[in-house]
Amino acid sequence: METMGNLRRTQYCGEVSLAQVGQEMVVAGSIAKCRNKGGIVFADLRDTTGILQMVFDEGTAQDVFEKAANLKSEYVVIAKGVLRERAAKTDKVATGDVELYVSELRVLSQAQTTPFEIRDEIKVKDELRLKYRYLDLRRPSMHDPIVLRSKIGQIVRNYYFQHHFHEIETPMLVKSTPEGARDYLVPSRVQPGHFYALPQSPQLYKQILMLSGFDRYFQIVRCFRDEDLRADRQPEFTQIDMEMSFVEAEDVMTLNEGLVKTVFAEVLGVDVPTPFQRMPYKEAMERYGSDKPDTRFELELMDVSEAVKNTEFMPFKAALENGGSVRLINAKGLADQLTRKTIDKLTDVVKTYGAKGLAYTRITEEGETSSFEKFLTEEEKTALRTAANAQVGDVLLVVADASNDTVFAALGALRLDVAKRCDLIDENKFNFLWVTEFPLFEYSEEEGRFMAKHHPFTMPMDEDLDKIETNPGECRAKAYDMVLNGCELGGGSIRINDPVLQERMFRALGFTQESAQESFGFLMDAYQYGAPPHGGMAFGFDRMVMLMLKRDSIRDVIAFPKVQNASELMSGAPETVEDKQLRELCIATVESQK
Ligand code: AMO
Repeated sequence: METMGNLRRTQYCGEVSLAQVGQEMVVAGSIAKCRNKGGIVFADLRDTTGILQMVFDEGTAQDVFEKAANLKSEYVVIAKGVLRERAAKTDKVATGDVELYVSELRVLSQAQTTPFEIRDEIKVKDELRLKYRYLDLRRPSMHDPIVLRSKIGQIVRNYYFQHHFHEIETPMLVKSTPEGARDYLVPSRVQPGHFYALPQSPQLYKQILMLSGFDRYFQIVRCFRDEDLRADRQPEFTQIDMEMSFVEAEDVMTLNEGLVKTVFAEVLGVDVPTPFQRMPYKEAMERYGSDKPDTRFELELMDVSEAVKNTEFMPFKAALENGGSVRLINAKGLADQLTRKTIDKLTDVVKTYGAKGLAYTRITEEGETSSFEKFLTEEEKTALRTAANAQVGDVLLVVADASNDTVFAALGALRLDVAKRCDLIDENKFNFLWVTEFPLFEYSEEEGRFMAKHHPFTMPMDEDLDKIETNPGECRAKAYDMVLNGCELGGGSIRINDPVLQERMFRALGFTQESAQESFGFLMDAYQYGAPPHGGMAFGFDRMVMLMLKRDSIRDVIAFPKVQNASELMSGAPETVEDKQLRELCIATVESQK
């Protein structure tokens, strides 16, 4: 193995171009591919920016040529040469019209044969790729998103700096507080039996920063939530977190859609029209069955309760009598694709969301086949078709339930399933919107009380202040979510800056004065000393990068992600620790959990 000697990189592989032909330059990286054609050796050199072809031939000094002939994939080298125009140009790589004619080559590190090939088109098990994450991250399709993520972070920082924000760090070892997801706990050595929590978000600290007079704060910050993984959820993830003083909801939304516009323009060259549509939560649920509607396709929900209000058909009748509704999706022109067999599959989909079944009617040239053929009167069937604006070729998919939440959840999921199945989604679209006027509270059957839908510091809407005690279920919040293509990209709210109102909130959430004091005393105290009106939001940074790059999982845009059981396969975390470490922390583990 050799050292770099006096050689130092002068160029990155992906950044050379025809304009530099004739120049002498030094490049460094790993061998992506090597082809020895007897008298001539081609070696593709890869660095973080791209790939450049190096050439060695009879004109090359003998010792250099020999080294080149012995190069293997993933050897790390530094090379000096002259850039020349390539005879056989290719557009497979960005630098396909040039090559480096090498005069000096140093092999800095050799490499064993890798467990899988370092190129994009490979079929390898995820577990293996994650175990050798450092190799996987060399593949351009895995490498480039991480580089782009860094660039997006820089644009985000610039944007906030231009708008008078300060970047301020907040603690990673914090107090465990109730509400929200499950905390990750960290034991204190010096205070046995006491635990820190890792922050689920910097929420309380950023509010305190507003009380400290910083006016505008942002941070690109790691957050931790001990919850089940999904394609868009990791136990540790990154937020673009911000808070600002002297604002109302509209100000926060306008500033942050400006951020999105800037990032999309600079990174993707895509013009995102602003302002985004604002859609109240209630409308989102009624039209899309979801508080994060995918508006790239139609298939909107329709309420047909009125059309069947006198029916004797039990599933509809029971739903209506018990305060629920009958709603449907008109799958327009999809009768050919939604066969009986497919509808059976769709029935399974709605059942997983608590619906008891899926009623349907298929309207074809041959006539109508429907699950309620014998159960609805002709008038009711006609009324239903009219309400749904049904025509030949359509399929009506109907869910009735005593709980509107169940109807929305089932039809919301069905809508997505039908769209995917029937290929109705234009993958080139970036459809943004704000969902606003969220409910302030959400009733938890499990807890037997109202919980904060967003968090306990969210400001109620002015019109609904009186309902906090009398009708909490109807109380709306100054809260907003930014939705992109059916994914919750971010969310936030205006915060309560009136201690009296905050106390009312805690009471409505079932806190006693003592329990509120114990959990949030420091925050409540802080609001006694003058608090500017303020609000903010947090974007899921990983989700933003994932959606921009059209990847299916945030795992692809996180350098070292976790898998389903929350372990990190490369390092093997989490692991047991030595008894000595546990003793120091005064912790004993229960055998079955070891
Ligand atoms: P919220 O809990 O909505 O708000 O989180 C903000 C955004 O963070 C992303 N996100 C996640 N991304 C990946 N993995 C997860 N486990 C995960 N959980 C959340 C989502 C989400 O929209 N403090 C408030 C914000 C505020 O009010 O200012 C908060 O954390 O994209």
